Amino acid sequence: MIKAVRGTRDLLPPETALWNFVESAVRDVFRAYNFQEIRTPIFESTELFARGVGEETDIVSKEMYTWADGFEPAFVMPVELLGSVQRELGDAVVAKLKYIYEQMPIARARAEGRKGQSLTLRPEATAGIVRAYIEHNLETRGLNKLYCIGPMFRRERPQKGRYRQFYQIDAEIIGPASAGSESPARDAEVLEMLATLLDRLGIAGWNLELNSVGCKNDRAAFNEALRKALEPVVGKMCVDCQRRAVTNPMRVLDCKVPEDQPIIETLPRISQFLDEGCRKHFEAVQEILRAVGVPFVLNGRLVRGLDYYTRTAFEFTHGALGAQNAILGGGRYDGLSEALGGPAAPGIGFAIGEDRLVMSLQESASAEGVLKKPDAYIAPLGPGMNGEAARLARELRRHDLVIDLGDESFRLKKSFEAATKAGAKYILIVGENEVKADAFAVKDLATGEQVSVPRAELPVKLRG
Ligand code: HAM
Repeated sequence: MIKAVRGTRDLLPPETALWNFVESAVRDVFRAYNFQEIRTPIFESTELFARGVGEETDIVSKEMYTWADGFEPAFVMPVELLGSVQRELGDAVVAKLKYIYEQMPIARARAEGRKGQSLTLRPEATAGIVRAYIEHNLETRGLNKLYCIGPMFRRERPQKGRYRQFYQIDAEIIGPASAGSESPARDAEVLEMLATLLDRLGIAGWNLELNSVGCKNDRAAFNEALRKALEPVVGKMCVDCQRRAVTNPMRVLDCKVPEDQPIIETLPRISQFLDEGCRKHFEAVQEILRAVGVPFVLNGRLVRGLDYYTRTAFEFTHGALGAQNAILGGGRYDGLSEALGGPAAPGIGFAIGEDRLVMSLQESASAEGVLKKPDAYIAPLGPGMNGEAARLARELRRHDLVIDLGDESFRLKKSFEAATKAGAKYILIVGENEVKADAFAVKDLATGEQVSVPRAELPVKLRG
């Protein structure tokens, strides 16, 4: 048997009803805040993510699905070799080697003047949306409020709430500073919209964790202080932290290894390094949140796993999710457009992990509860009745009724079984006598009550 690939899964009915319920609530709420949908490609050039998300991040260095499009690999890296190197050098070095290996045929082809490129399945949506903003000159529209819903891909170790193909609901506010894109009012608007959405979905017990990761200058000073503080202790920390201490010290704060936590608690926090502008901006965001009554907690350790963040960074967590407890994350990325070769375009956004949102929702709502069951099951009875039944179904569906349809070859007992299995409220029988009389036997499957209803009165009866 061929099975779905590890880390991917099929979403089946009735569970998909919950996904639809979430997506339609999302579209309604986003509409009220004047967000509009954007759809970007599922794969992009690798360079976009390397430059946008950052080469030193876990996402880019370890987790991307990347391939050389348009030419054959220069050679095949033997799996056994990888295995032995991995044992000696560890995951991070092997991931880097793989990345270099994947880039080699591209570099070689370029050197030989051949066309071809390195492509990557999108691990997140922000870089693609900012690319589209630049490519289509969206700055001429002023402030852009965009959202997108779709699959993302990361080669992570699968576990509860963590998949290799997962779904994000992503929203971004981006535009020239003159359109107000830099204002703390936008940060607060996005956070208040999220609180509204989660409340509307009935997700109780969410926590908003908030931090400011400052801007470039603050970060340079902070990283320096972190490096100093880490120097005497980093030898006692995990290998990932030892690497981060050199490449990107801020990421040490994100470490989840229990043994490292006492050391991390003693490290400096970015809040001590924010310049006047960043500090004021962060205070203004908090002030508006208090004014609109959105509760939050400050978390000085929240640094997020992507390199583009500046100033406000946040996550919404939920207790029911276990280790993977972030339902969503986001923040400001004021320099991303420029890093991708575009105009200055401050922005803020977030991505909800839809898989995790649905998991938290399952706490309070069942898929059965939100699924619209058929109003009626039409049972054609006897030869030649399929056409009549189809005609009636067509009429009733035009009245916005949910109609399921059987087959004239079914005996009455089988039609009843099928109607019950489909969860229909009524069964409606279409036999020769009914067609002649233009009135149909309608039976309530719960009460067993049966009446004959003229064709014209059927919509009202079935809706009742
Ligand atoms: P992120 O924190 O990498 O941010 O992902 C956002 C959310 O996606 C996470 O909080 C989580 O719920 C979900 N998620 C991430 N990886 C997985 C996985 N392997 N399986 C299931 N769910 C997952 C971003 O992606 C940023 N682009 C967010 C953003 C938008 N920042 C500004 N604008």
